Amino acid sequence: MRIVKTVSFVITSIIVLSCSNKIIQSKVSFSKDNVLDRRVDSVLKLMTLDEKIGQLNQYNGFWEITGPTPKEGQAAKKYEDLKNGLVGSMLNVKGVIDVRALQKIAVEETRLGIPLIFGFDVIHGYKTISPIPLAEAASWDLVEIKKSAAIAAEEAASVGLNWTFAPMVDIARDARWGRVMEGSGEDPYLGSQIAVARIQGFQGEDLTAKNTILACAKHFAGYAFAESGRDYNTVDVGESTLQNIVFPPFKASVDAGVRTFMNSFNELNGIPATGNKYLQRQILKGDWNFDGFVVSDWGSINEMIAHGYAKDNKQAAEIAINAGSDMDMESSAYVAHLAELVKEGKVEESLIDDAARRILKVKFELGLFDNPYLYCDENYEKATVGKKAFHDGVLEMAKKSIVLLKNEKQLLPLKKSGQKVVLIGALANDKTSPLGSWRIAADDETAVSVLEGMKEYKNNQLTYVKGANVTEGRTEFVWETKINTTDKSGFQEAIKAAKGADVVVMVLGEHGLQSGEGRSRTDLGLPGVQQELLEQVYKVNPNIVLVLNNGRPLAIPWADENIPSIVEAWHLGTQSGNAIAQVLYGDYNPSGKLPMTFPRNVGQVPIYYNYKNTGRPVMNEPESVFWSHYSDEKNTPLYPFGYGLSYTQFEYSNLELNQKSFSAEGSIEVTVNVKNTGKYTGKEVVQLYIRDIFASVTRPVKELKGFEMIVLQPNETKKVHFTINKKTIEFYTANSIWEAEEGDFKLFVGGSSVKTMDADFQYVK
Ligand code: NOJ
Repeated sequence: MRIVKTVSFVITSIIVLSCSNKIIQSKVSFSKDNVLDRRVDSVLKLMTLDEKIGQLNQYNGFWEITGPTPKEGQAAKKYEDLKNGLVGSMLNVKGVIDVRALQKIAVEETRLGIPLIFGFDVIHGYKTISPIPLAEAASWDLVEIKKSAAIAAEEAASVGLNWTFAPMVDIARDARWGRVMEGSGEDPYLGSQIAVARIQGFQGEDLTAKNTILACAKHFAGYAFAESGRDYNTVDVGESTLQNIVFPPFKASVDAGVRTFMNSFNELNGIPATGNKYLQRQILKGDWNFDGFVVSDWGSINEMIAHGYAKDNKQAAEIAINAGSDMDMESSAYVAHLAELVKEGKVEESLIDDAARRILKVKFELGLFDNPYLYCDENYEKATVGKKAFHDGVLEMAKKSIVLLKNEKQLLPLKKSGQKVVLIGALANDKTSPLGSWRIAADDETAVSVLEGMKEYKNNQLTYVKGANVTEGRTEFVWETKINTTDKSGFQEAIKAAKGADVVVMVLGEHGLQSGEGRSRTDLGLPGVQQELLEQVYKVNPNIVLVLNNGRPLAIPWADENIPSIVEAWHLGTQSGNAIAQVLYGDYNPSGKLPMTFPRNVGQVPIYYNYKNTGRPVMNEPESVFWSHYSDEKNTPLYPFGYGLSYTQFEYSNLELNQKSFSAEGSIEVTVNVKNTGKYTGKEVVQLYIRDIFASVTRPVKELKGFEMIVLQPNETKKVHFTINKKTIEFYTANSIWEAEEGDFKLFVGGSSVKTMDADFQYVK
């Protein structure tokens, strides 16, 4: 009886408040935020300390909803917590039936009836899978990337979800780190633009709409700088790199209105990110004024014990909340200890209020207080999941993500008829691997394979031979570590088939589950026996088109030297095979550019285009060894950042600056002519880089500052414009602020970070 009364009181109070606010609003014009804040406060006032702490607690889905109610063990404890209003959010629950059942408990059985938020790793699609984020980044196509995120949001929302743990905006320079597949590569400018596009795609214009979900910028911060590329490893990054490289996409995410952040597993300069006040309170909630909430990473509060930063789970809770981690994902640290910590005076209750307020506010923004079942409509779910428009969308995205790395004998595009084409490689006939890592709601065997895609082109004679597997063992289990195979028994059949072919297409690389979380590698070559297979087939038929499937840059120097055509096709998702076939046959002219440098060998890693010059960048005397280099390998990469070919060719000319210097209020207009000199219509990403020649803190040899995508018909020329102003040259200076410093600069314009035209300019304050 008491509970029922309280529930109705809350609802009434909210309704009254929202009605009366309308009146007040018209008189004193309260902002939308003010109204929301007052609604949040009205709920907060009714809550006990335990209930507020409950909002800070997030549990993984723990119970098969259609089975019996959990009676013992951890699941029973979680169930009790849920009924007692001690859970604010759940992750990994999916499907309208399950979401509704759990929401019903939160809304109808808890004292205050506060709805849950349901989160899920919708990293590159929910059921209809788009390319891995690194591949999408290779498109440099912000409009398409935004659409792709919007597709993921619409599909995910239709199954009851309201929050994705994406985008991952970690700038990554080390291809050994398995999670490079989940980000946008190595550049903070491109990474920031893509972060914004993806956030806008997920969150849309209106969070209460039933096709939008909350985005989450993660992992704050420094996670990708794990020493030696080993996941979860120690991170030690100086302030200049942190501010100029690591932070920009996070800051851009805040400015784009992202409503949640996730902190990270790593320690940063001695302090775990989850317990890092500097990161969360000073930078994120202080300097950047972020008013959404921060969720910990999975168990990362508790992991501060293993880091050697907390003596037990209780102290870990104290450190995390004081440092600004608002929601505890699966450590059960807050729900177990925060109340006691408040009583002991170790945690200010105002901090709990602040964290709960942030979470409640986001729940209001989602419209959950007005309709907790907004996302729970089975008919809509059925009509939405996997719908044709999503497949069309992810196919478009996939085509645009492909990068042509080499096309020397013009083997590509393939002729559409009269050809004997032999297709080799286990990955060519794989319908699971193209889904890539992080696609936990997609079913195995649901991607279009390359074999299927190529079969659509019926006027050639197509033969498929496996040649060799990539890995051994089960391939269907998401969490299994993949062991490379040593079995070469299929080689002979492949070699025999290749002998008589006009063209051999070999699909080689990493299985989709060889990159991703916990999947760091020390070898960046083709896994298993694939390199050997490639070399043996090459001996009998050098007309090879190598199609790479991979979640990270690979080191393939032999292939680069010998194989005439190489296509970077990543893990492209559900429509992978169609996208690859359409590119191979020239129905889509490849336009992607690498978002991450490809090394010659793993010893060069971390390797990135925006490196610092050092004091000894070149050999000063003949044969000198005393300059910054390797004695057994070049410094340059195999394929640089921003690189990617087309079936047509582009020529850059007439780089012009309207003036040679500018001041704080002024700007420089830069123009360049780009001409399509080849015979196909093509798309080019025209890139602008600058170099700050000397500064109060040393600057990189080049930094991306703008890009434009243009489509040119054969023989067509377009003039591309860029503007350089104070913002373009700002960086985190020795004064510990972002500002522009006077001095000399160089700019570079071209189709990659290497092949460019250049000019000089000055900034005078
Ligand atoms: C751990 C990962 O680091 C994070 O990115 C992910 O969102 C959570 N697990 C939840 O699955």
